[in-house]
Amino acid sequence: MKKIEAIFKCEKLNDVKDALEVIGHIGMTVSEVQGRGVQRGIALKGRVGEYRVDFLPKMKLEMVIRDEDCDEAVDIICEAARNGGIGDGKIFISEVAEAVRIRTGEKGPDAL
Ligand SMILES: Nc1ncnc2c1ncn2[C@@H]1O[C@H](COP(=O)(O)OP(=O)(O)OP(=O)(O)O)[C@@H](O)[C@H]1O
Ligand SMILES: [Mg+2]
Repeated sequence: MKKIEAIFKCEKLNDVKDALEVIGHIGMTVSEVQGRGVQRGIALKGRVGEYRVDFLPKMKLEMVIRDEDCDEAVDIICEAARNGGIGDGKIFISEVAEAVRIRTGEKGPDAL
């Protein structure tokens, strides 16, 4: 199993969720996070001059899926979350050792 952690613009959450549902992925966890990429946040012009916001609000979506579904899901997330500009986001993928459905005790991919 693989865990996909996708960080992207907040306004893209519905598009990403809907696109994943179309290919059959329902279970996921989302949270509002604060982040920064290579641009180090953003420079804003205010009345008292320029100031920096070091962290910008983003959505983080976490999803554990079968190995064989991972590439397709990553492609779908990229497509749905992309505007083509800086700050569109990033995806991290890692191995998951085990999953358990608490209600039934099912383990592994059956628990997803
Ligand atoms: N190396 C990283 N580790 C953990 N989180 C990261 C990392 N890089 C980016 N993020 C997260 O992803 C969010 C979006 O990053 P962002 O898309 O700005 O990446 P970037 O590398 O600056 O690319 P771009 O130049 O397209 O903006 C960040 O706000 C942060 O939450
Ligand atoms: Mg950036």
